[in-house]
Amino acid sequence: MTSAPHLLTDPFLQLPTANSVQVVWFTEFSGKKHIVTYGENLEQSTLAKTNKLSRTREDQQSKVAHITTNQPVKRDIWRHEAKITGLTPGVSVPYRVISMEEHGASVSSNVFTLAANPQPGQKLKILLTSDHQLKPMTAANLQKVVETVGQVHGVWLAGDLVNVSDRASEWFDDSRGGAFFPALQGRANYEIIHNDVKTIYTGGQIIQQAPMFTAIGNHEVMGRLEKTNSLNGEFNDTIPRAVAQKLYSDESLIDNSFNTRTYEEIFSLPQSTTGGKKYYAVTFGDVRLVVLYATCMWRTPKLDTPHKGRYTEPAQNLEQPENWGYGQLIFEPIAEGSEQYNWLQAELNSPEFEQAKYRVVMLHHPPHTLGDNIVPAYTNPVQIIERDPQGKITAIRYEYPKTADYINRDVLPLLEAADVQLLLYGHSHLWNRFVSPSGMHFLETSNVGNSYGAAWGDKKREVPTGYKKDYVAVGDPYGLEPVIPTIAPLLGEDGQPIPYIASNDITVFSIFDTGAGVVTSYYFDTRKPDSDVVKFDEFKLKQN
Ligand SMILES: [Fe+2]
Repeated sequence: MTSAPHLLTDPFLQLPTANSVQVVWFTEFSGKKHIVTYGENLEQSTLAKTNKLSRTREDQQSKVAHITTNQPVKRDIWRHEAKITGLTPGVSVPYRVISMEEHGASVSSNVFTLAANPQPGQKLKILLTSDHQLKPMTAANLQKVVETVGQVHGVWLAGDLVNVSDRASEWFDDSRGGAFFPALQGRANYEIIHNDVKTIYTGGQIIQQAPMFTAIGNHEVMGRLEKTNSLNGEFNDTIPRAVAQKLYSDESLIDNSFNTRTYEEIFSLPQSTTGGKKYYAVTFGDVRLVVLYATCMWRTPKLDTPHKGRYTEPAQNLEQPENWGYGQLIFEPIAEGSEQYNWLQAELNSPEFEQAKYRVVMLHHPPHTLGDNIVPAYTNPVQIIERDPQGKITAIRYEYPKTADYINRDVLPLLEAADVQLLLYGHSHLWNRFVSPSGMHFLETSNVGNSYGAAWGDKKREVPTGYKKDYVAVGDPYGLEPVIPTIAPLLGEDGQPIPYIASNDITVFSIFDTGAGVVTSYYFDTRKPDSDVVKFDEFKLKQN
């Protein structure tokens, strides 16, 4: 069979330095040669390095045209990366990529522009986003970003890029048209139907010309390799490293507990000495951005459930420790004294951090929110095993002492002391924001669909009863009042302004304008495809 070769993605920009930037793209053929041509007349060229992704697969739940299978099968995908050097800060240069097959046919991308890392003083518009996960409003959201503010200079994405990280089609070509790269590259084809009116959204052509920095969310993490017969099963099959050590002492600890291999293979990111790409800091224009690896396993809050729970193990698994879920386990320690905490402390004392005009921290897990997922506390689950007089296990539950919340107890005091101006996070699929008494801002701007609502007014979180610790059903469990949007808040049923947007019809995005030091949030009502985007909130960062 012969067909014209095609690129699996457009190229996108990663890891800009003072005089270079990486161009990355993907194909489904290894090819003879892959190059980037660039310069005013595309007269220069750089050869790419090619690597094959090691874990990308499809399975019975994949939605991709040419693959049907009833178990996970490997999908061959090659990643190409070229470092473009000798750039002048502030000067954009046209580029395109060309991939050549073994037998001569070649395919090239359109022409985009690349640039080195922006310098201090350069005014930037940065898109703040998260939790795309192929949700129904993602393509509409990103399309409205470009229609509203034009080309952004950077993208900060606070985790949960896809649903199941090893499922290739979620990144590249899910047949519903809203995969991760197409939505961020203006190549989506996602349909929203409302009142019989069909609207197709293409997403936004964004990351071809704007470097993206990402944080790891719970959806970037895969569980034990090949111990279940589906990728969703594998995603849910995480266990703590310490348990893996006991169960599989002589095998790979990473493959037998949890891993972020595919995420790390797809992205080129700044690295820290202790965390590699998993947590890092970078200077981008006037901003020092610190990215943490702060996320935990999502498990159901239901108590009477056949699934591995947040608060319980299901009855059928009580005698099989290898089948326990171990509650809402935390993937990377961040408590005081941990490697990540020590690295953060050193970063906050570094000249790059101290000299930056703006200091921003991005993490996936919410420090303050009205969303569901802030309860229980961000702390290692305390396992309580109940036995009958014969020693047989009768119940296993997990408690999460709120006083041991690592983010609120350990991390936030450090950030307050270091004059961080903004924390960006996601995970609960809503927009809301908070301000600490010292003026540190907290923003969750992750509304692209599948909202779980806001625990406010009559709406309560699902929290266990009869448990010992403190599980807060309404409001921010850590005591801050949500801020009412400053420009055009939505109104509740009583006609009063509400301090959040949690909707499966109204999508939200936020832009950080580093020239003005202002963060602006916009919403778009997908039920009214011809309606205007509404600027509904704006706040200014505290000046150091
Ligand atoms: Fe999440």
